[in-house]
Amino acid sequence: MTQAHVAPFFDAATFTVSYVVHDGAGGRAALIDPVLDYDAKSGRTATRSAQRLVDFVRENDLVVDWILETHAHADHLSAAAWLKEQLGGRIAIGARIDQVQRVFKPVFNLEPDFATDGSQFDHLFADDEEFRIGGLTGRALFVPGHTPADMAYLIGDALFVGDTIFMPDVGTARCDFPGGDAATLYRSVQKLYQLPDATRVFVCHDYLPASRSEVRWESSIAEQKATNIHLAASTTEAEFVALRQARDATLEMPVLILPSIQINVRAGAMPPAASNGKRYLQIPLDVL
Ligand SMILES: [Fe+2]
Repeated sequence: MTQAHVAPFFDAATFTVSYVVHDGAGGRAALIDPVLDYDAKSGRTATRSAQRLVDFVRENDLVVDWILETHAHADHLSAAAWLKEQLGGRIAIGARIDQVQRVFKPVFNLEPDFATDGSQFDHLFADDEEFRIGGLTGRALFVPGHTPADMAYLIGDALFVGDTIFMPDVGTARCDFPGGDAATLYRSVQKLYQLPDATRVFVCHDYLPASRSEVRWESSIAEQKATNIHLAASTTEAEFVALRQARDATLEMPVLILPSIQINVRAGAMPPAASNGKRYLQIPLDVL
């Protein structure tokens, strides 16, 4: 089996880890969960974070086959659309993104012809669907719970878990967004825990707990099952649901949830221009 080469890129502004996964220099690649910089104070976007992925792809002479989103992120804007312009590739997400689009279209009063069938994406993955990245075989896995549409991607022996589990000393993703559910996340993580112990696990965020001074993003299924502080192999569904719901009740909305969702349900595209030619994001009052 061809070894998956994994290059991580940490975005300190949103604690997001984006990845370039490839089958060797001169070969084929997938980009996972790329970040578009957004300054909430000025409403300005920028591509510094995503440019690092472009530079890596060019330095390693890679051809991008896929731009993979694990879900419609609520904490950062996706750079998928910009990266597709720079590097090509097909933007893909889980097939259940239509559920997320149906929830948020009325929240943001999106234009009447905004489609809620996922057609803004180039490809929608079914559960267990296989895909190729040159010599690598990928498998898309439904892992709902954080949102109804979350995906994990198993590429070679590297598992990209999105927002399901985080590093073992951080735990798990929140389950209180629309369509989120702690029991559903528990079952999704059980599915991941069936994978071989040596499977490398790459997280989408690292929030740097007080007990640690450096950012980390890689663990293994064995390490997660033994030491995940929210959901180890020995944790029951009832224990996890009680812990997750109690913790979620204390969390504020992510700082960038309103701008992020509006862009990310469009596969990273900007909203259509208003009558004055400018583009606007909506801030719904007293809705979330
Ligand atoms: Fe998320």
